[in-house]
Amino acid sequence: MALSTWTAAVAAAAIVITAALWRRLRFRLPPGPRPWPVVGNLYDIKPVRFRCFAEWAARYGPIMSVWFGTTLNVVVSSSDLAREVLKEKDQLLADRPRSRSAARFSRDGKDLIWADYGPHYVKVRKVCNLELFSPKRLEALRPIREDEVTAMVDSIYREATRKDKVGQSLVVRNHLSGVAFNNITRLAFGKRFVNSEGVLDDQGTEFKAIVANGLKFGASLSLAEYIDWIRWMFPLDEEAYTKHGARRDRLTRVIMEEHTQAREKGGARQHFVDALLTLQDKYDLSEDTIIGLLWDMITAGMDTTVITVEWAMAELVKNPGVQRKLQEELDRVIGTDRIMTESDFPNLPYLQCAVKESLRLHPPTPLMLPHKATANVKIGGFDIPKGSNIHVNVWALARDPKVWTSPLEFRPERFEEEDIDIRGHDFRVLPFGAGRRVCPGAQLGINLVQSMLGHLIHHFEWSLPEGVKAEDVDMRENPGMVTFMHTPLKAVATPRLPAHLYDRVAVDM
Ligand code: HEM
Repeated sequence: MALSTWTAAVAAAAIVITAALWRRLRFRLPPGPRPWPVVGNLYDIKPVRFRCFAEWAARYGPIMSVWFGTTLNVVVSSSDLAREVLKEKDQLLADRPRSRSAARFSRDGKDLIWADYGPHYVKVRKVCNLELFSPKRLEALRPIREDEVTAMVDSIYREATRKDKVGQSLVVRNHLSGVAFNNITRLAFGKRFVNSEGVLDDQGTEFKAIVANGLKFGASLSLAEYIDWIRWMFPLDEEAYTKHGARRDRLTRVIMEEHTQAREKGGARQHFVDALLTLQDKYDLSEDTIIGLLWDMITAGMDTTVITVEWAMAELVKNPGVQRKLQEELDRVIGTDRIMTESDFPNLPYLQCAVKESLRLHPPTPLMLPHKATANVKIGGFDIPKGSNIHVNVWALARDPKVWTSPLEFRPERFEEEDIDIRGHDFRVLPFGAGRRVCPGAQLGINLVQSMLGHLIHHFEWSLPEGVKAEDVDMRENPGMVTFMHTPLKAVATPRLPAHLYDRVAVDM
């Protein structure tokens, strides 16, 4: 029995290797590091992948083949090739590769993030563009964002003015995580799971446990993801996935039911959950799709905004001249006897430039999300066989010295000198991707980041802890699909506005 299993495995390996060889001979693939048998380049890739790919691109060129086991991954690192991938050949490269874990979570792409490009995707994307992220809904949900940003200011003020804390540094991320969590859960689920003292209620505790459990699954993936023919040796813990899915569905259904009852009593509401339930028939949305979409927003919207603001703050404590210029603009436009609101944005061009500059240098998803080819396609003159994965290194192309002057310098002025749209229209800087799969939450993300950053800088003077020099700030990234700072930023916050402007302005919606 065991022998026949091994014979089958060896035969399968022989077939896979022959197929790979045949593919390599038949196609003119992009150059890249020499792959090892079976594992490909998997063990050559350094943990911070986008930096490793950028180093390799310097050797092999702006389009490379990198083998994850038996799967061909093509990495492009220049703005011209990004245009080819995300604009000219966009339609043939708009599927997603799904790990087994992503496949389980998304019920084989019944959501948006992990859906392949096809009728389901087009329908769900339409719901996002026309309904969830429409300018009208974004505006209707503005009071939630403004409430939560004032809650963030309040929590920092309380920590910074506590007797034993005055003049001490605080961990910036701790305060950003709270505002992002509350913002996205309120926007999607219409729920503030924490009370004004910051204590989670029962549903919130369950919600956080589900998020944490989901992350654990994602992290436990192995070599088997990339090598088809050994996958059978590493079966998934189906029971754990089923249990996790059931737990997530149970909580979501309870919240959906609460919203249905509230709507019956009190008319229309604006949260994503209400939008999706009221549009369910019009767009023929299954329950799996509604639940999948709601959780997509948590996955895609929470960490990305926290990461962006933390990096921006790191740049601002390292570059006090830029911080001062932002404060001058805020004081000129808003003054010191009221707080900023989103309607001030058009009058704060330097703040907008600082956000763009920060997203240029520190895109939170530096390799975007992976795309997959649905047909054989040519990119940069090379063959990309159907089924290959495509990654655009948006981190590398936004630092390309052929395109940017002094690319490593944090200089928001470069966006004053040239008006550049960072939402997927200019291929020199693509923090949100571009084309069909461009981030649907880009405007929301920009609003959140701009609002958080504006308030942080208007309300406080930020400096490095005593004895820490600008060059000591650890600017390395953590490995992973999203790039948190390796060492959470610590900075000293000194209030600079009258005391009554630090209270949370709560809104009940
Ligand atoms: C600074 C903040 C953000 C950044 C930099 C960002 C960036 C990105 C990127 C690079 C992609 C992949 C594009 C591609 O594969 O071509 C993406 C996809 C996505 N983002 Fe964002 N994002 C941000 C905030 C948000 C927010 C706030 C939401 C919603 C609440 C959101 C929802 C999504 C969704 C649903 C997708 C999947 C789109 C698809 O597959 O068609 N994002 N985002």
